[in-house]
Amino acid sequence: MELYLDTAVMEEIREIASWGILSGVTTNPSLLAKAGVSVADFMKGIESLIPGPLSLEVTAEDAETMVAQGLKLREYGENVVIKLPLTAEGLKACGRLKEKGIPANLTLVFSANQALLAARAGAAYVSPFIGRLNDNGAEGALLIQEIRAIFDRYGLKTKIIAASVRSPRDVTEAALGGADIATIPYAVMKKMVAHPLTDDGLRRFRTDWENSGLSL
Ligand code: E4P
Repeated sequence: MELYLDTAVMEEIREIASWGILSGVTTNPSLLAKAGVSVADFMKGIESLIPGPLSLEVTAEDAETMVAQGLKLREYGENVVIKLPLTAEGLKACGRLKEKGIPANLTLVFSANQALLAARAGAAYVSPFIGRLNDNGAEGALLIQEIRAIFDRYGLKTKIIAASVRSPRDVTEAALGGADIATIPYAVMKKMVAHPLTDDGLRRFRTDWENSGLSL
């Protein structure tokens, strides 16, 4: 499973990219609003940092304006994927962008049927929101498994991005469920790398080595 960062903060991308584990980035209007940056500002100097696809989301809700916004966003680079909401209008826009050779990521997906519709509309990616489902008493991990089973059974090539990730456990469950990608907030990435036994082990190695008087 590939790992994307879900953010609108350049410094976060810079740090996580430096680990050498980053395959792409997603963002959304809420993340940009929270960071207080326009898409234009966010895109300044970002190309060199992002090794793969970058999903930028439209704000329109009708297909015609979504396509117009998608074409504008795509001008930022060949790696830009247009994020569209999983609505009837989003499906229409997805097909029109695909005709122009522009890949779409269908977002706000909460059911296997919505994912099937996205795949049939020609979406390159589909983003089931596992955290928001879990918040509402449903099982996000189960949705990933269902979408994986359907896509495999019918040979659908749309990639599954596990989104709305809240914890390291969500990432594990997405990987076990067969997601192609998980898009992960910075804070969760930081938790994934850490383990108290790693810190403890490091401390013991350091102490033993320092007390030994030996050198490498
Ligand atoms: C996905 O691409 C979205 O940006 C994101 O994962 C939404 O997560 P949230 O439910 O934490 O807002």
